[in-house]
Amino acid sequence: MQPTSIELERQARLWIIEAGERIKRAIQQPLEINSKSGPDDLVTDVDKSTEAFLHEKITTTYPNHHFLGEEGVADKLSSLQGTVWIVDPIDGTMNFVHQKQNFAISIGIIEDGVGTVGLVYDVIKGELFHAIKGKGLYVNDLKVNLPEDRPLHEAIIGLNANWLVEKRPIQPTLINLVQTCRGTRSYGSAALEMAYVAVDRMDAYISLNLSPWDYAGGTILLNEANCLATRFNGEELSMLNKGSMVAAKRKLHAVLVKDYLSNEVIS
Ligand code: IPD
Ligand code: CA
Ligand code: CA
Repeated sequence: MQPTSIELERQARLWIIEAGERIKRAIQQPLEINSKSGPDDLVTDVDKSTEAFLHEKITTTYPNHHFLGEEGVADKLSSLQGTVWIVDPIDGTMNFVHQKQNFAISIGIIEDGVGTVGLVYDVIKGELFHAIKGKGLYVNDLKVNLPEDRPLHEAIIGLNANWLVEKRPIQPTLINLVQTCRGTRSYGSAALEMAYVAVDRMDAYISLNLSPWDYAGGTILLNEANCLATRFNGEELSMLNKGSMVAAKRKLHAVLVKDYLSNEVIS
């Protein structure tokens, strides 16, 4: 018999906490740091061993489930049929390496294409955000109220200053947005920034070029907080392909897509 979403969340929570304990122990030792697509795209031995740990737990307990992770422990997926665990073992690796904090483990469980369980765990703060579809959003087991949907001029928007530099095609749009909103923040972990929107610490989070492991867990948290996460043009996020993302409270999301982001060529 297939486990229920509640059972999957209970199991995932035990593993995410255990993975966090392993990371806290590993952080005391020297890290093996390498770069991937460029000098600022970092990966460590701890990213890889954390993904391997979660992959082993998931596939031995649920041999018919599928696994998609950033560090390529498992094969690339081409379908979301069945139960798929989408895992980012350390989201915010640059923070992990430089700050030894402000990073998270992210898990999203997708059942036949529908996100049912999301967990984002800030290992150092000990803050676990979790949601089960239809059952609300929790931070460390405290149920979170629905966030306030503020107008843009009162909104705090999460974005990376890299997208604002000259010669990026999106630059004029973002300058306009930054000048209109109340303030901006940049935490350096997409999963945490999505969780912060869901629990009302920010009003929106915008990024280009994110992958399913960056946003699978966060999307499920946002859904339970009655927020939306889509591509810049308003299209549904793909759990198989990378692209842009705007996550926000619903009314603000509509304004961001319609007045700012939908005309961007990069969707
Ligand atoms: C990165 C973080 C970062 C975002 C990057 C992601 P990683 O994930 O989420 O905030 O701006 O686009 O790649 O590499 O630390 O797992
Ligand atoms: Ca990531
Ligand atoms: Ca990562």
